Amino acid sequence: MKICIIGASGKLGQYMVQHALDRGYEVVGVCREESVPKLDAFKDRIAIIPGRTNNREVIARAVEGCDGVLTVLAAWGVDDYASGTAQAVLDFAPPEARLIFSCGWHITRDGKDVYSKRFKLLVAIAGWIAKALRLVDLDDQVESCRRIFASDRKWTVVRGSNLEEGESQGLPVWSRHVGDPILESNLTRRIDFALFMVEALTDDSLIHEAPAIVGCQSPSALAHARA
Ligand SMILES: NC(=O)c1ccc[n+]([C@@H]2O[C@H](COP(=O)([O-])OP(=O)(O)OC[C@H]3O[C@@H](n4cnc5c(N)ncnc54)[C@H](OP(=O)(O)O)[C@@H]3O)[C@@H](O)[C@H]2O)c1
Repeated sequence: MKICIIGASGKLGQYMVQHALDRGYEVVGVCREESVPKLDAFKDRIAIIPGRTNNREVIARAVEGCDGVLTVLAAWGVDDYASGTAQAVLDFAPPEARLIFSCGWHITRDGKDVYSKRFKLLVAIAGWIAKALRLVDLDDQVESCRRIFASDRKWTVVRGSNLEEGESQGLPVWSRHVGDPILESNLTRRIDFALFMVEALTDDSLIHEAPAIVGCQSPSALAHARA
């Protein structure tokens, strides 16, 4: 299996590279030119294509012949970075390729997610500040997911909870809607977020789903398992 990881040099990206190599996959990684050294530990085992992830020529080259594409949707800056990245993947990935995208819980597919007041306030304040400073545009991640949800490609949008570092606890559990009790703990190990992304490549039951994930050892997941 040949896969492409777009945003391979980030924290999530590097974990995904490791999980993919552990499975014996052939890996092509895309990352910004200045971030190539972050992939030094993998440089003899993966092909690296330097470039901004919303560069359509870079993406067209990187996804060629791939069975799957893992994309870190990062809404950096205010120049439609995330939606440009998503659109390029939707346009250029081979027709049968599994396309897995990462985002946060704030993305809703059908409007049925139930968010706490605290969560909504945090997203609103952090989003406003980040956009005012021209650092991050959360609305662009919303737009990129709108395009993915409208597409007939074989997509999965993995919605991550708050993240922490640490040893793997195993494959996160998921639910369709934020607000479902199983998700209450709102915490996942980043290494396991990456594991869920890589496992989704071969899980056809996740096609056209937007799973909201939480750590399988988190209190809410354990309580759900006991029940
Ligand atoms: N952080 C959280 O708590 C959290 C929670 C839920 C979901 N998520 C989702 O998880 C994914 C990755 O999150 P993460 O926190 O683990 O971060 P990450 O893996 O470090 O990913 C950040 C990505 O953004 C790129 N990036 C950084 N600065 C950039 C810039 N100025 N211009 C363009 N690209 C830039 C990084 O590439 P370089 O290596 O080139 O810098 C990297 O590919 C995202 O889809 C996010 O929505 C995160």
